[in-house]
Formats: sequence, structure tokens, C-alpha cells
Amino acid sequence: MPGRYRSGVQLTVVDHPLARARLSRMRDERTDNAAFRAALRELTQMLVYEATRELAVAEEPIRTPVVPTTGYRLAAPPLIVPVLRAGLGMADTAHGMLPESQMGFVGLARNEETFQPEAYMASLPESLVDRHVFVLDPMLATGGSLVHCCGLLTARGATQITVLCALAAPEGIERLRDSGLPLRVFTASIDEGLNENAYIVPGLGDAGDRQFGAV
Ligand code: URA
Repeated sequence: MPGRYRSGVQLTVVDHPLARARLSRMRDERTDNAAFRAALRELTQMLVYEATRELAVAEEPIRTPVVPTTGYRLAAPPLIVPVLRAGLGMADTAHGMLPESQMGFVGLARNEETFQPEAYMASLPESLVDRHVFVLDPMLATGGSLVHCCGLLTARGATQITVLCALAAPEGIERLRDSGLPLRVFTASIDEGLNENAYIVPGLGDAGDRQFGAV
């Protein structure tokens, strides 16, 4: 994997029978919160698996019970950044697959005067120079929050940002492209588009409410 991504969005759709099955369970309105969280965790495994395919590995000498041989570990585990609240349901699974990774957190809320997303929390390392960052957010809808989040990361020097989302709307992908940010995006589906309330169609509803209940 190159040290920094080309500007623009590299999009990968993780279209796999198991991913389709998990996504269908998440879309189904009869799926309760617990089953939704379980399906999101399983889908996250598939997204992380694909998104880490080209991460650099370092060799290290190990011994099997039989002979010495060469072992491998990730050369530079990425920083994991779930976007609150919906990204929390992906965090533990991603961390389980990347146990050496550190985790940061970004919380975004809409400013009701400007209608723009604002960070109410950004728990991140001061410098992200030369660090891979994996951003977790199940829904790429308008793209406004993700552009804002990734802007916080690039302001700290990040040049290698990977966004993992369950679903994406074409409008959100376009917004990320327009931002000029150097991003890789892994999603299990590109849906039809957004409705008048900025929900993804057919989508799965509100990913936070579906996981944690409407509070
Ligand atoms: N956020 C969600 O949780 N669902 C959508 O459909 C769009 C944004």
C-alpha cells in the first residue's frame, strides 16, 4: 500500500453472499436491536478484512513446535475512529481484528443554526502524519458528517484515510469526491439515493436507533 493515497475516492463495494445476507437482516424492519447489532458486527468483519488486505506486514522470526519459520505482523496497525453514535457498533469488532490498534473517537452533531455538522468530541492523537486511519460509520448518506470527520483527520496530517460503511448513497460518494480528500471507501452496498429526509433508500432506517433504540 502506498504511503499516501491519491487524491480522490477509491471505492470498493464488498459484494459477497455473506455480506448481502447480513445487510438484508439489517435492512429488514422486523430485525430487533440485538439481531441488528449482531449482523452489523459480522458485516464489519467483512469490511475490515477487505480493507486491510493490502496493509504492510513486518516479518519476525518465530518457532513452531516443529521448526523455526517466518511470522508476520502488521507493520503499522491503523488508528480506528468510530463516528458516534452509530459507528460504535462497528468499533469492538474492528478492534478485535486489529488488536494492536489505538482507537480515537469523533462525535458530531448538527448545528441547528448553520445546519452544518460540528464536532462535540474529537479524541484523536495530535499528529496523524504517516498513520493509517480507519473511520467507522455505518451510513454514508449526504456525506456531510464524513467530510467533516475526515477534515479533522487531515488537519492533523492524515493522508491515508479508509472509511468503512455498511451502506452508501451515491450523493454521499459524490460529496466525498467533491471534497478532494484522499480516501478509500469500503461499503457493502451503494443504494438508490436519499429521500427528502436524507435517509438512504432503500436503506435500513436510522442506524443508531436500529442498534441502540430511539432515545
Ligand atoms: N443516517 C442513518 O442512520 N440512516 C440513513 O438512512 C441516513 C443517515
